[in-house]
Amino acid sequence: MELSESIKEFKTKLNLLKIMNKLGKAAAFNEELDNDLEENRRGEDLENNPYSNSSSDFIKSLSAVKGSQKIEVPIIELTNVWKIYQMGEIEFAALKGINLEIYEGEFLIVLGPSGSGKSTLMNLLGCLDLPSKGTVCLNSKNISELNESELAKIRGQMIGFIFQSFNLIPTLNTYENVLLPLEFQEEDAQKTRKKVAYLLDIVGLSDKKQNLPSQLSGGQRQRVAIARSLAVNPPIILADEPTGNLDSKTGNYILDFLNDLHEREGKTIIIVTHDLDIVKYATRVVYIKDGEIEKMEKRTKIESEGLK
Ligand SMILES: Nc1ncnc2c1ncn2[C@@H]1O[C@H](COP(=O)(O)OP(=O)(O)OP(=O)(O)O)[C@@H](O)[C@H]1O
Ligand SMILES: [Mg+2]
Repeated sequence: MELSESIKEFKTKLNLLKIMNKLGKAAAFNEELDNDLEENRRGEDLENNPYSNSSSDFIKSLSAVKGSQKIEVPIIELTNVWKIYQMGEIEFAALKGINLEIYEGEFLIVLGPSGSGKSTLMNLLGCLDLPSKGTVCLNSKNISELNESELAKIRGQMIGFIFQSFNLIPTLNTYENVLLPLEFQEEDAQKTRKKVAYLLDIVGLSDKKQNLPSQLSGGQRQRVAIARSLAVNPPIILADEPTGNLDSKTGNYILDFLNDLHEREGKTIIIVTHDLDIVKYATRVVYIKDGEIEKMEKRTKIESEGLK
């Protein structure tokens, strides 16, 4: 429900863009974008990366804690979490007492069969939903104690979502879909444009910026969703079946891309899936069955590097 409200809000903001288009400003806008793209060609130096100086406050705060006290603080911590769905008289426990700590720099895969509670868990890990019982802490804050706008803010800064069904806005083109999360940041327009251009470049969609989602292939849509999830440079990327709708070649491209983000930028990646093949990328696998954690398995970095 919160999500649909956010989308409504997004749409209102994006109408402004549409109006700009109608006023004929789009041509100039796109010309500038092309210039930005030219500047940001692959192999660009760090100065051209509009994200190069923007490591999040969150990462800084974690390092400070780690530096002074030599302890690791979980980015996300679930303690005895239950999710109980109410259907009239009937209650259904989709999650039953989940305890899970996720640390910075993990590549965590939550694996389980259909109906085991993966998407329910993803919604809680991503702070899109509140637990029926137990606590979910994001950056050491109990999310049940935050008000709507505080929660939206911390979630927006810290988590990039890649949903199973992409969740692109059908009436917005590639450029506008990636722009959405940045509309909430208080940054100047030129920097925002540079960021979108950079993101479209790294996902290889610079030539598709005017296409609506319906004018893109499944893999291209997924790449728009990834670019959008990276827009605010969040330390955590959360993906629900990111390869579920893709052929294996495109699926591997997406996973290699996420793996790169993990290895090169130290992003925390969380993927929920029923696809056993993805396990090879993980540093830890959590097996879930009937709403409970069945087992957890740590994997070494060597195994994930062995992919290449
Ligand atoms: N809103 C809801 N109301 C009632 N039951 C629900 C609701 N959402 C999910 N469930 C039930 O909770 C259980 C877990 O659902 P969930 O969507 O988390 O499964 P999943 O592991 O993601 O499955 P899949 O792999 O098929 O996507 C299922 O049995 C589902 O029927
Ligand atoms: Mg699911």
